[in-house]
Amino acid sequence: MKTILVTGGCGFIGSNFIRHYYDRHPDCRILNLDLLTYAANPDNIPERIRANAERYEFWYGNVCNPDLVNSLVARADIVVHFAAESHVARSLYDNRVFFETDVLGTHAVANAVVKHADRVELFVHISTSEVYGTAETQPMTEEHPLNPMSPYAAAKAGADRLVYSYIETYRIPATIIRPFNQYGPNQHLEKVVPRFITSALRGRPLELHGGGSARRDWLYVEDLCERLDRAISRPEQVIGQVFNFGSGEVCSVLDIAGLVLDHLGKPNTLRTSIEDRPGQVDLHVSSTDKAARVLGIKPGRPFKQGLVETIDWYVENEQWWKRIEWMSHPNTSSRW
Ligand SMILES: NC(=O)c1ccc[n+]([C@@H]2O[C@H](COP(=O)([O-])OP(=O)(O)OC[C@H]3O[C@@H](n4cnc5c(N)ncnc54)[C@H](O)[C@@H]3O)[C@@H](O)[C@H]2O)c1
Repeated sequence: MKTILVTGGCGFIGSNFIRHYYDRHPDCRILNLDLLTYAANPDNIPERIRANAERYEFWYGNVCNPDLVNSLVARADIVVHFAAESHVARSLYDNRVFFETDVLGTHAVANAVVKHADRVELFVHISTSEVYGTAETQPMTEEHPLNPMSPYAAAKAGADRLVYSYIETYRIPATIIRPFNQYGPNQHLEKVVPRFITSALRGRPLELHGGGSARRDWLYVEDLCERLDRAISRPEQVIGQVFNFGSGEVCSVLDIAGLVLDHLGKPNTLRTSIEDRPGQVDLHVSSTDKAARVLGIKPGRPFKQGLVETIDWYVENEQWWKRIEWMSHPNTSSRW
């Protein structure tokens, strides 16, 4: 039985990944280390998984705690490190915790992997496309310069390069994955897609920073989980490598608002322009060549299909999101 340590497994992507991996690998045991910050929800892990003590353990704790991380990595064959502060807008006015968690948390995980190199087969570091800043070339390959434009992106770039330096210095068996924009079930309402969906359902304005002209590359979370699963099953092809996991399909924030309103039968007049957000990336579009060439990854769902699935999930799961509705509009001021 393989043991996989997941950090941040009660958040959006981590919980989707745990559900995916648990169901497809009946021979695995999952250790989930999570601090249960405002972004987490323990219920994202279904009872059928939580109740199976043979195959699932939850560890409440901080990824920055080296002793705790060491003790868990010591038991792991595979480490998938999601834990992070993840919201760009919040990093504009309270960013110390971003550098603590995103950089020092990665430091703790990477050091534990060095210490337990005889045990760990693969360390999957979850970075982000935000490390690139706005696209200088289209599409953006893994060689695109790193120009982080927000404190969140800078913290993630620090973590990304920390892992790279450990690959070079200590030869740890790590891979760096840079997902582009994610959307799907269980995403916190502070993020744009669920905020638009739930605002539309309530008949409230859909606020578009800078008119919603920012264009991003959108990948449905289940398609990301499948790619991660594929990468984990091919350690010899991914160790020492960086991969973009994106769709190559770009959609503007303005168009997303229109698609959400259209699907829910709400008027386009709910779209409201507000001032642009500092540190905003104007354009992200992923090259999918390397992931396709090395891992045989195929395109995921078309964006419109994934968006409809996501809208339907929020329509059917109001119980899940209504308790965090009050958090859907974080302060985006850069003056504090
Ligand atoms: N959501 C996206 O569009 C996106 C895109 C690219 C990359 N990423 C990266 O993917 C990862 C997961 O993102 P997400 O959207 O699921 O984030 P999220 O905010 O939904 O979840 C983060 C999880 O990490 C946990 N956590 C936070 N600080 C912790 C700490 N100190 N110790 C232990 N656990 C802690 C939280 O409790 C939460 O469960 C992050 O590393 C993020 O940078 C996200």
